[in-house]
Amino acid sequence: MASENKKNIILSGVRPTGRLHYGNYFGAIRDFLRLQDEGHICYYFVADYHALTTVTEPTNIFDQTLSMLRTYVACGLDPARSIIYRQSDLPCTAELALLLGMITNIGSLERGTTYKDKLSKLPPAKGPEGNPLSYGLLGYPVLMAADILVVQADVVPVGDDQRQHVEIAIDMAQRFNHRFGETLKIPATVPRTALRLPGLDGSAKMGKSEGNAIDLLDDEKTVLKKIKGVPTTTDPAPLETESNAPDDVIPELPSGVGTLYRLLDLLAPPEVFADFIGKYRRGEKFYGKLKTTVAEYVSRFNAPIIAKYNSPDNSDQTVMDFLHDNAERVTPVALDTVEACREAMGLGHSLYRA
Ligand code: TRP
Repeated sequence: MASENKKNIILSGVRPTGRLHYGNYFGAIRDFLRLQDEGHICYYFVADYHALTTVTEPTNIFDQTLSMLRTYVACGLDPARSIIYRQSDLPCTAELALLLGMITNIGSLERGTTYKDKLSKLPPAKGPEGNPLSYGLLGYPVLMAADILVVQADVVPVGDDQRQHVEIAIDMAQRFNHRFGETLKIPATVPRTALRLPGLDGSAKMGKSEGNAIDLLDDEKTVLKKIKGVPTTTDPAPLETESNAPDDVIPELPSGVGTLYRLLDLLAPPEVFADFIGKYRRGEKFYGKLKTTVAEYVSRFNAPIIAKYNSPDNSDQTVMDFLHDNAERVTPVALDTVEACREAMGLGHSLYRA
C-alpha cells in the first residue's frame, strides 16, 4: 500500500497532444514534479498507442510526442530521475493487454464512460455493420490497465476523468490474481483530485479542443491578447464570503473573472491576490489592470519554460536519446511482469524475444 514516507512506484501517462497548456500543467505536470522531487520511483510515459484510438487519418504522433516531451523537460521533469518513456517502446504493455483481454468481459467495457460517450455521439448505426467504433477504442481501459500493471505501480495520479479507468485496472488485477494466483500488484486508488482549471472563456474546464487555453509556450503578445479576451462584462457584485481565501472567493465570482483570479492565485504572491479582492469588494473599475497584471504573471511563468524548450540541450535528438535509455530501464521490470503472467496463465515462459 502507498504510505507517506515510503518510496512508491508512481505511474502516469499522457496522450501526445503536442502543445501543453495551463490545464495540463496545474492538473498534472505540477503533481508529476512534486512526486519526482519527493524521490519516488516515477514512471511517466507518453500514451502514443492510446492516441491511435481516436485517430482517423495519419497524424504525426511522433513529432507531437517529441515536442510534448521537450515541454515536459522545460517544466522541470528530469529524465535522469523520472523514467520517461514512450508506450510503444514498451511492447510488453501490448502483450499484457492481450493477456488481460482474455479475462475481460465485453459488457464491462461497453459500460465504460469514455466508450459510452463516444457511442452516444454517433448517428444511429445503419446496416449490418452496426457499431462503427473500433476494437482499439473499446479496449482502451484494457491497454491502460496494462500500462499500470506492467510496472507494478503503487499509485496512479490522474484527474477525475481518468479515475474510472484506474478502478477498472484495479479490478482487473484482482480478477487476475483470483483466477491465476497472486501475480499482479494491486495499485492504490488515487489519493487526491487534480485541480481543474477553468477556461479563458469562463467555462468550467480549460482544454486544447475547447480553444480556451493558455499554452505554456505562448509568448508575451499572445498571452496579453488571450487574457484581454477573457469575458469580464459583469460588474463586481457584493461577495457573501468574508474570507479572502481563493477557494472561498473564486466560486462566487462571475466565471471569466473567476478564471483571472484563479490564475492570479496560482501565479502571484498572496498579497497581490488579496489586493485585487479588495478592489473587487470596493467595486472599483479595475478589470483592465487585473488583466494586464495576470498577463504579466503568466508571461513571467512562461519565459523560463520557453527558454528551456528552445535550448540546445533540449533538442529532438536529446529526447530521442533519453527515450531510448529509459525504455531500456523499464523493459526488465515489464518483462518480469509479463513472464509472471504467462507462467500463471499456463503459457510458460517465453522461449524467444526479439
Ligand atoms: N488515458 C489517459 C488520458 O487520456 C492517459 C493514460 C494512458 C494513462 N494510460 C495511462 C494515465 C495509465 C494513467 C495511467 O489522460
